[in-house]
Amino acid sequence: MHLFSPLLLISLSTALLFGAPQNKQSKELNAVISTGQYSTKLLLKTLGSNMKKNMKAGGPMKALDFCSQEAYNLTEEVNLKLPNGIRVKRISLKYRNPANKPEVDEELILDSLHKLKNANVLMPKQLVQKVNATTYKYYKPLLINKKVCLKCHGNIKDTDLKRAIAQRYPIDKATHYKMGDLRGAVVVTIDTAAKAAK
Ligand code: HEC
Repeated sequence: MHLFSPLLLISLSTALLFGAPQNKQSKELNAVISTGQYSTKLLLKTLGSNMKKNMKAGGPMKALDFCSQEAYNLTEEVNLKLPNGIRVKRISLKYRNPANKPEVDEELILDSLHKLKNANVLMPKQLVQKVNATTYKYYKPLLINKKVCLKCHGNIKDTDLKRAIAQRYPIDKATHYKMGDLRGAVVVTIDTAAKAAK
């Protein structure tokens, strides 16, 4: 009985967490985090800079054309640039494109993030989920953090734009957001075994 006193358990787990800073586990976790950060940045930069360009050139209608035709292709292009075993995508519980519907384990994370948000908890910069012995999912929460997002995800007033979105996405769920709302997340799936085999 004494062996499993709460105090001992605490010190044991502390030792596991902080004991050896560069053990195999923490090395792997550090690699997962930096891969996640890198892949997320690459995707958001690619989508963001192209969106800006199209918005400047032709306003929200042109940017919508770009998003609906190119967001998926550009995401695939980013994936081709990433090493073997690493994939990046965007997900949301209220998705516009059904291709961005979360998987069951991803939905769990988004649910938890929404619960935290509703409890006025500041969003974490990132989360790591262990999927199995060799696979991780890295999440970056995405907020409606710019007014421009509301043009296409808020209470859309431009009737032409509204119609164009409804035509392309008959089951669109991604409207009526407000500034600061949690929109979804970037997910990077990292298969560490595939990487090692390369
Ligand atoms: C010009 C219109 C437009 C603007 C502005 C815009 N989006 Fe979108 N957004 C779209 C379209 C269209 C899609 C669906 C893309 C696709 O088919 O993959 C989308 C998809 C998304 C998705 C993927 C999940 C889903 O619903 O399919 C996220 C996350 C997202 N947008 C976040 C944002 C954020 C954050 C901003 C502001 C920085 C923003 N969007 C600005 C049109 C827009």
